[in-house]
Amino acid sequence: MLADKLSSAFDFLKTKSPSLIGIDIASTTIKMVELSEVGKGTFRLERYAIEPLAKDLVQDGNVANLDQVSDALRRGFKRLGSRNKSVAMALPAAMVITKKIIVPSGQKEEELELTVEAEANQYIPFALDEVNLDFQILGAAPNNPDEVEVLIAASRKEKVEDRVAIAEAAGLKPLVMDVESYATQEAFRMIAPSLPANGRDQNIAFVDIGAHVTHFYVLRNGQFLFSRDQAFGGNQLTQDIQRAFNLSPEEAEAAKKNQGLPENYDQDVLQPFMETLALEITRALQFFFTSTTYNQVDQIVLAGGCALLPGLDELVAKRASVSTVVGNPFASMQVSDRIRPRQLAQDAPLLTIATGLALRSFE
Ligand SMILES: Nc1ncnc2c1ncn2[C@@H]1O[C@H](COP(=O)(O)OP(=O)(O)OP(=O)(O)O)[C@@H](O)[C@H]1O
Ligand SMILES: [Mg+2]
Repeated sequence: MLADKLSSAFDFLKTKSPSLIGIDIASTTIKMVELSEVGKGTFRLERYAIEPLAKDLVQDGNVANLDQVSDALRRGFKRLGSRNKSVAMALPAAMVITKKIIVPSGQKEEELELTVEAEANQYIPFALDEVNLDFQILGAAPNNPDEVEVLIAASRKEKVEDRVAIAEAAGLKPLVMDVESYATQEAFRMIAPSLPANGRDQNIAFVDIGAHVTHFYVLRNGQFLFSRDQAFGGNQLTQDIQRAFNLSPEEAEAAKKNQGLPENYDQDVLQPFMETLALEITRALQFFFTSTTYNQVDQIVLAGGCALLPGLDELVAKRASVSTVVGNPFASMQVSDRIRPRQLAQDAPLLTIATGLALRSFE
């Protein structure tokens, strides 16, 4: 994955490998998911863990302190209790430049590498020896059977290397470096069958509201029609709670989850925050309508920690006039007896990226 020479660094997105544990290094927690395949296309959730990260260790996907994040990963992994050490990780989409190109079909691997390199040279704003470059053949080109469509992905080497170093220092073997949006897309395949009409031929908005970032996607038949990131999330609510009740960040964070706040919390703090969230979502929908030929979404699926705010789904449904549910990537999976269903119901919406990464094992 991390060879110094470009020619051998071409496996940044490759997916064939033994069973992988999906690891999502987010801004407030590290999430880990291990799946097994119990039948063709049928999976079982074996284990998962969510390990808290100290404040400001990871911001916008940049890791401020490798040692501390690696320590947290090691702790989380211990709790996970898996013997498997092979892991899949991801970079935020904002750190990866992707481009689709069309090339003649039937090119040999080496020829294709040269084509990709030449193409990458034209649009990547860094020297090629500073980037990890990878490509994946997507299939026949839309209009010409003699051509294939190839996805090129490039990322600053240091971003990949940071994540690899974190995993290795925790005693793990990083085998796949993916992109968070692709991992989400992968996890979404597990959610779609639980939606009306199995999610088929529908425009579905998938909104992952984390601590610092909200990722807004619209998918149709599993493919992205639109995506947009907003620097907005549950951390805003934590800050509102701090201010309103004069609490430390840690106290505010705990109180928010345990719902142990004064009576006026709901009306004065929570409801205004949820209204803002709903407004951000309706705005993102407007952006989708104005920047594509579509003028409708059929379903909104919420994910991320903020999806757990009681009543957010109903409020978003009302404000956007679109049916809204909280997404569960394990909806069509078996679940190990080790896992408590009630706890999983609380945690599932946070695990989409890690689940998508774990699914890379089975392609
Ligand atoms: N039960 C809950 N009720 C309300 N908010 C919650 C709950 N559980 C988690 N959150 C909030 O959700 C946020 C964390 O969500 P999530 O784990 O999806 O974020 P993240 O992936 O760490 O962040 P990001 O994707 O922005 O890097 C935090 O702001 C947390 O306070
Ligand atoms: Mg997240």
